[in-house]
Amino acid sequence: MSILRSVVCGCGSYLPERIVTNAELAERVDTTDEWIVQRTGIHQRHIAADDEPTSVVGLKAAQAALADAGMDASEIDLIIVATATPDHTFPATATQIQAALGITEGAAFDLQAVCSGFVFALATADNFIKAGGARAALVIGAETFSRILDWEDRTTCVLFGDGAGAVVLKAEQGEGTLADRGVLATHIRSDGRYKNKLYVDGGAGSTKTVGFLRMEGKEVFRHAVLNLAETVRHTFAATGLSGNDIDWFVPHQANRRIIDATADKLGIAHDRVVVTVDRHGNTSAASIPLALAEAHRDGRIQPGQLVLIEAMGGGFTWGSALIRW
Ligand code: UT7
Repeated sequence: MSILRSVVCGCGSYLPERIVTNAELAERVDTTDEWIVQRTGIHQRHIAADDEPTSVVGLKAAQAALADAGMDASEIDLIIVATATPDHTFPATATQIQAALGITEGAAFDLQAVCSGFVFALATADNFIKAGGARAALVIGAETFSRILDWEDRTTCVLFGDGAGAVVLKAEQGEGTLADRGVLATHIRSDGRYKNKLYVDGGAGSTKTVGFLRMEGKEVFRHAVLNLAETVRHTFAATGLSGNDIDWFVPHQANRRIIDATADKLGIAHDRVVVTVDRHGNTSAASIPLALAEAHRDGRIQPGQLVLIEAMGGGFTWGSALIRW
């Protein structure tokens, strides 16, 4: 059966220049390089400059993705920016990126699913493309979490970083089989009962402030390992695939221990896992496209290979997607 597929035809990323090491953080809060590395696998993170809001970080990733695709911005008719750190409450960061790219046609909007944002945005763009509502989409994950961190809270400020990644999806006719290139399956979930485990304690509609990130790390860790395995098993059941069939596993990069535990549960060998958390920290919605761009650029991910992505974040939200590159 002939169907429309969303094929990845470009991928790019951007990391702010400034690198903050664990040693530098240990000068600010009561922590050590040893604790951070042992509990999270993080060695360093990038932090955006004052004149680099999320739209600027996201724009640079979008430009890199378009260049990689060999496409002109005018060909894009849908932009979705997954972010929990928009420049402003409104207008959407996506419309700022749209304008900066010189695009005046189509639609651009933000999507808020925190660390799962890229998976949710990819699923949304894929459904637009499959339904004939868009022909070429930019899906961007862009964050400046450094701006919502309480830099005196050692339990959270050591975990996160800034950055952005983007993919260009293009509608192509497929055969409707797993041999098709493009997004083959998506699965997204949420459960708002867990709001208080991971949230920001401010907002335009409540405190009229931006607020700071708060997290019960241990609880989030426990749910992450359970939910991530569940969503991937759903994607495996929907496609009849298993861990052995996956060429590259590109998980959300929150904690090396969560990544390893999830790969083990799913039967995916560690040398098939793309890891960036050591150098990027947790960049929320940007973490997956940043990792995809790195593995695409260095030649690990090759056209035709099967790529599995998954993420879990505040809400709780979680999800996974299978892409034939
Ligand atoms: O992207 C969204 C999803 N987010 C996540 O997936 C994050 C999930 N959670 C985690 O990654 C881990 O739970 C953390 C890395 C946040 C924490 O690791 P943990 O092994 O769960 O440690 P813990 O929270 O149980 O803390 C252990 C100890 C505590 O001291 P006591 O109570 O045992 O005396 C903490 O106060 O470590 C202490 N601690 C620290 N010590 C040095 C907490 N943060 C630090 C720190 N430096 N930065």
